[in-house]
Amino acid sequence: MTVILSDYLLEKRQLINEQLIHYVRDYTVPGRLQDAMLYSIEAGGKRLRPILLIATAEAFGAKVDRTMAVACGLEMIHTYSLIHDDLPAMDNDDFRRGLPTSHRRFDDATAILAGDALLTLSSEIIVNDQELSDRERVFLIQELSKASGASGMVEGQMQDMLSENKQIPLEELENIHKKKTGKLLNFAIIAGAFLGHASEEKFDEMKKMGEALGLIFQIQDDILDVTGDAEKIGKPVGSDEGNRKSTYPQLLGLDGARTQMESYVDEAQSALKNAGVNHTILSELIHYLSSRDH
Ligand code: IPE
Ligand code: IPE
Ligand code: MG
Ligand code: MG
Ligand code: MG
Repeated sequence: MTVILSDYLLEKRQLINEQLIHYVRDYTVPGRLQDAMLYSIEAGGKRLRPILLIATAEAFGAKVDRTMAVACGLEMIHTYSLIHDDLPAMDNDDFRRGLPTSHRRFDDATAILAGDALLTLSSEIIVNDQELSDRERVFLIQELSKASGASGMVEGQMQDMLSENKQIPLEELENIHKKKTGKLLNFAIIAGAFLGHASEEKFDEMKKMGEALGLIFQIQDDILDVTGDAEKIGKPVGSDEGNRKSTYPQLLGLDGARTQMESYVDEAQSALKNAGVNHTILSELIHYLSSRDH
């Protein structure tokens, strides 16, 4: 049976949304903090990280039930990273996911705390998940912490801030993108392959695919910050230029950025092929990430 990508995205998004809301409600107490957590979670978003995790796990034959806690934990960390990324002390943006940013809707302190709470909740729900063995929970939390923290996303964000108002070499920019965005996307692929008990060789190929995906994703994000439609992307256009950020279009121009992205698309597709994964949804997702308009 051929599954159409748009149907697949819709179905999985709905599943993830329901589960995310259920987790936040079940694990927190009503009040301002819970309101702020739900505000950013319910604002939506594409849910690409959990979808990639689930699609990879399914490609290796794992059941969706075994992926839900870690998929939602990953999305919680991503959502927290966006809340903090938008703060006045960071990118200072007023819109996210089509709504005023958390610090605009609430205040800076509430936004900081809602981010902190989503970050910590992610480990709590994975630890409590009865679908996973102890060994699986330890591995997943270890990898997710590594991908999120001081050698992953947070370090990438630090480097991103330090490279404002500067011209940096392409290798350095690539390194920032690999961390600030790539690590969490790569975790989605690693976790999915792990839950599907991929062999060591296949796991390594999937890791390569994940690395290429991270770069594809952030280069397209940088391109959309120049050419996108604010309504569609749900956040301001021109934020990077305003903050004098180091980005692919700023360094290579739009065409150069696109060419670079296409080379990563080829890399991702061949790694997927080398992993022997005959799963059209994953291959279509690679294409989708590079051609998305939001
Ligand atoms: C935006 O991520 C931030 C980056 C890491 C580039 P997404 O484009 O996945 O944002 P949502 O989750 O759909 O809002
Ligand atoms: C941020 O990159 C990546 C994160 C870790 C949140 P950007 O600053 O480019 O993300 P957007 O464009 O605000 O979504
Ligand atoms: Mg940023
Ligand atoms: Mg930003
Ligand atoms: Mg951006």
